[in-house]
Amino acid sequence: MTRLGVNVDHVATVRQARLVNEPDPVEAAVMAEMGGADGIIVHLREDRRHIQDRDLNILRQTVKTKLNLEMAATQEMVKIALEVKPDTVTLVPERREELTTEGGLEVAMNLEYLKKMTGLMQDAEIWVSLFIAPDVDQIKASHRVGADAVEIHTGKYAEAKTGQEKDEEYQKIINAAKVASKLKFEVVAGHGLNYRNTRKIAQLTEIVELNIGHSIISRAMLVGMEAAVREMKKVIEGVL
Ligand code: PXP
Repeated sequence: MTRLGVNVDHVATVRQARLVNEPDPVEAAVMAEMGGADGIIVHLREDRRHIQDRDLNILRQTVKTKLNLEMAATQEMVKIALEVKPDTVTLVPERREELTTEGGLEVAMNLEYLKKMTGLMQDAEIWVSLFIAPDVDQIKASHRVGADAVEIHTGKYAEAKTGQEKDEEYQKIINAAKVASKLKFEVVAGHGLNYRNTRKIAQLTEIVELNIGHSIISRAMLVGMEAAVREMKKVIEGVL
């Protein structure tokens, strides 16, 4: 079955709204794993708006599945990754003023730099994934970088307003997943996935993992973390 990585950033968003010590993303991660999460994801942003260094350090010790650190490919972040050694690093573009990660990485334009950063982390036995638009040129560039995985950005599919637009975006994801799989990448997908639009993405056999944050945390506020994760697993399985 397609694996589910749960992003707990927005538990930290609520905590940082009051600068107190609750709710704790570390506790949320434990409960997500109890609900069946196959991995825990955090995005340590340059501005530390939600996840803090303390969260990452404790999660490294407590996560029993896999820890995936999303981060910008800056010198500061690569240094942190090499110290903390998450199982996976997902390199994402980052702009301070954005509400969430808006686009995919521009891999082709930054090939040599990304290759160097990827190599440094792979030498430390960290699996490196690149977050990219469903675009064949970016996949080919990711191959030249030597990444282990690509995460296909599903944001445009999730936000499509018309049926036609949704179909077009879905087709781009299908094509991208096929090309990436042929190039022997582990193919992941994420962004904007929720209890309504995830099933169609989970049906694509090339995609082995989905990374989902906001919708699960939103639901967890109403039904609890374990239940929210369990329900998403059922959506992925096609039984809900
Ligand atoms: N994958 C990546 C690379 C992301 O940056 C994010 C957002 O942090 C997600 C997945 C999860 O997106 P969402 O919160 O919309 O589910």
